Amino acid sequence: MADARPFHWEFKPEEVDREVFRIEGGRRLEGSVRISGAKNAALKLMAAATLTGERCRFTNVPEIEDVRVLGEVLRDIGVTVDHPEPNVYEVAGGDAEWLFVPLEAAAKMRASFILLGPLLTRFGRVIISNPGGDRIGRRPVNLHVDAMRALGAEIEYRNGYYFAKAPGRLRGGRVTFPQITVMGTENAMLAATLAVGHTIIEPAAQEPEIDDLIAFLQEMGAEVERTAPNRIEVEGRRRLRGAQHAVVSDRIEAGTFVVAAAVTHGRVTLENAPCGHFDALMEIMSKVGVSVSSGKDTVEVDATAADLHPFKSCDIETQPYPGLATDLQPATCVLLTQAAGVSHVTETIFEDRLEWLSELRRMGAQVEIPDQRHATIHGPTPLHGAEVEIGDLRAGASLILAALAAEGVTTIRGAHHVHRGYEKIDKKFLELGARIERTAEGK
Ligand code: EPU
Repeated sequence: MADARPFHWEFKPEEVDREVFRIEGGRRLEGSVRISGAKNAALKLMAAATLTGERCRFTNVPEIEDVRVLGEVLRDIGVTVDHPEPNVYEVAGGDAEWLFVPLEAAAKMRASFILLGPLLTRFGRVIISNPGGDRIGRRPVNLHVDAMRALGAEIEYRNGYYFAKAPGRLRGGRVTFPQITVMGTENAMLAATLAVGHTIIEPAAQEPEIDDLIAFLQEMGAEVERTAPNRIEVEGRRRLRGAQHAVVSDRIEAGTFVVAAAVTHGRVTLENAPCGHFDALMEIMSKVGVSVSSGKDTVEVDATAADLHPFKSCDIETQPYPGLATDLQPATCVLLTQAAGVSHVTETIFEDRLEWLSELRRMGAQVEIPDQRHATIHGPTPLHGAEVEIGDLRAGASLILAALAAEGVTTIRGAHHVHRGYEKIDKKFLELGARIERTAEGK
């Protein structure tokens, strides 16, 4: 049995919320880093495993808090979740019996809503908490609910819970989304795998993690296919079988390390990298003047020339895949603080995802935020150490990047947010030559 303790095991429970990163910046990162499996694939794959009573085995699973929490949520509803060795999880949904996903699960992790589709389609009913919102704004689930209704589900909302039923089995149908939604697409696709008849999902999100999920579903015996870039079609089957799958590598983690190498004027090789999955960021790198080259599953970033030639400014706009990922917007903003000139940032996916820039300002960044969707960054500005606070996962990783680039010592509170989605981030940066430590505030 692998070590099942939470990642911050070296902290006492009462210290977890007080965990801080302390970083002494200004050191060039050099060496190689291995990219982990993608959080946003692993969570959906584990949920998909409940579509069958047979055992499913996943490798290359990132050792992160969100995976651990989803494992707990699944165990609470009677699913067997084993963690036989690091980065390997086995899920057997044979005994799922509590078709109830409580508020505690939704409060800990919004992604627990991905259980709606698989539980409803396999068991014909589920009661699931409304996950509401988080620090990156209002996060409605109306599109998920509408998709289930398009497949014949009856859903009522009472006291913060969705009570969902499928009289008989769900029926295949046409799911038409008014806007692109990643988890909405996934929930609809998972539900359709065991529905009676044919389902067309359009426009379907195009994120690579969805194609990873499609590959796994096919291994389970599902008839599901992306028949056009933004269309997924599913022919429902009576039952699915257990399967094995290696989780696709994390393009957001990869992008984070690309920017880390750039802002520290370093030279870093990414191994096990999902090449071709973060081309929008690569394009920005080439516009600002960072040299990046890709092999089959390696990426080499060389920003040592930045000592002589400052980066060039660049306007960015987040978009659904294949556009620039909203999850890489914060990291890209750190890069733009080091670019000569004015850069404009437009966040089109989530409201409130620019709020974290006020923390970056404490480190010397010159940023204007005229409204929730727009920011202007003036560069280059030398960043300096400061005391800052993390509000959400991606902003947290980006404050680490800023601290690595800054002169002096930065203390970052709210470190636990980062462990939700990045495997051993401090160890990976240490191995690249950073000075970073995790400690409890006041220790
Ligand atoms: N939306 C609705 N109604 C819905 C669903 C979405 O209005 O029912 C809106 C959202 O509020 C947002 C837009 O549609 O404005 C797109 O949201 P989407 O549904 O695509 O996001 P998601 O599936 O909830 C996933 C990732 C996010 C990532 C987004 C966008 C997971 C678990 N989460 O969220 O990842 O930012 O897609 O790519 O897959 C992260 O990893 O830090 C993270 C937040």
